[in-house]
Amino acid sequence: MGTSILSNSRIEAAYRSKTHGSAALATKAKNVFPSGITHDSRHMNPYGIYIEHAEGPRKWDVDGNEYIDYFGGHGALILGHNHPSVAAAVQNAYGKGTHFGASHALEIEWAEQIIRMVPCAEKVRFTSSGTEATLMAVRLARAYTNRSKIIRFRTHFHGWNDHMAPGQANHFDGTPTTGVINGIAENVILVDPNDKAGVTAALSNSDVAAVILEPTGSSTGMVPVAPGFLNFLRDETKSADTLLIFDEVVTGFRVSPGGAQAEAGVTPDLATFAKIVAGGLPGGAVAGRADIFELLDFEAAASKGFEKIGHQGTYNANPVAAAAGIAALKIIETDGICEKANLFGSCLRQRLNQEIAYAGLNWAAYGEHSTIHIFTNPANRTVTPENFNALSIPFMELKGNAPGVVQKLRQAMLLNGVDFNGWPGGTISASHTERELEETVLAFRQSLVLLQEEDIPH
Ligand SMILES: Cc1ncc(COP(=O)(O)O)c(C=O)c1O
Repeated sequence: MGTSILSNSRIEAAYRSKTHGSAALATKAKNVFPSGITHDSRHMNPYGIYIEHAEGPRKWDVDGNEYIDYFGGHGALILGHNHPSVAAAVQNAYGKGTHFGASHALEIEWAEQIIRMVPCAEKVRFTSSGTEATLMAVRLARAYTNRSKIIRFRTHFHGWNDHMAPGQANHFDGTPTTGVINGIAENVILVDPNDKAGVTAALSNSDVAAVILEPTGSSTGMVPVAPGFLNFLRDETKSADTLLIFDEVVTGFRVSPGGAQAEAGVTPDLATFAKIVAGGLPGGAVAGRADIFELLDFEAAASKGFEKIGHQGTYNANPVAAAAGIAALKIIETDGICEKANLFGSCLRQRLNQEIAYAGLNWAAYGEHSTIHIFTNPANRTVTPENFNALSIPFMELKGNAPGVVQKLRQAMLLNGVDFNGWPGGTISASHTERELEETVLAFRQSLVLLQEEDIPH
């Protein structure tokens, strides 16, 4: 597919020879999907793998190849694939019907569970995805403050709704991305990550409804949030009468059972969730201050004389997703899941840094909690992997990669039985064990040898 047919990469040739079934499906997919894919992160040359089934920390492709999985359902699967308690809850709920067009007891239990675990959660509203959750949070903030503008941080990701597109992967000057109108883009103020002066200047505009961010930094800590920055935002938003929104779509129930806000001890006004909150099924939620949620309340609107925000959504609080979410959150609340995944994360980062140092590469494995990022050093700075400080690197370099490296690293890791995502890196589950650690380290070592044979930069 594409120009890579002409590639003389031995990595690519070996990848192709192991993945004939995936190649055949990718060819068919091109007839029905743009670029043959259903999510931009699956765009890979010459083609991505097609998975047949998954269990715990592993998955198997249509050619029978086995992989240790670091995609983790795009971060949704902190319990690993097919956790028996979640699977049983789903089967039980499915047997009773998938949609009642009516309220049901599970949605209450699901919300009560979130309220018990998440510091800011006084009230909850369910959505079907994280994109919808951030859309709702912005609308709530605007209605509550009667202001228009949203402050976002360059490279932070909040889904693909119109307000969240400019400045995430491009258009860092705030101009609208393709298909987004000027009127929306001009109501989004972009500030550099960790730029306190930029925030203060942006908040001097009296029309700011909310500041939204990923609370551990963009792309789950790829561009980390500086120490004290969340407290700073909390103080500044309070004094500007502006709402603070934590987008905890990834960090929620992962960083700690109460999310990044519980770990940091900073309580936002609103928080958005998806992924883990629904136990690996489609679902999302907004949680936060009860007075803000009055804007969705028929009785409050009638008694106080304001126009409520309309909110529909066919699959909001779907009973099957609710059952999965309750089962997953209960386990996370009591079983030390976040600590276990976090510990694997720190071991993996340390071990991969040893491999990077051994290979003499100017890269680093870094991150916090149950995530791993590989810095491939696009500007070829001198770095010491074991002492790498991501905060000392300009954010665009952390988000960038040395040319051609990601593609080859992903192919080489797949060849060696590991599915790393395109950050490159990934998220970790509590089902990853010592065995996965050792196999991943070995796969990384072998992949670096393959890459060095092909003269990767640095
Ligand atoms: C931080 C963050 N916010 C929002 C979203 C969007 O969630 P969804 O893909 O469920 O729409 C994502 C998705 O990866 C995310 O990582």
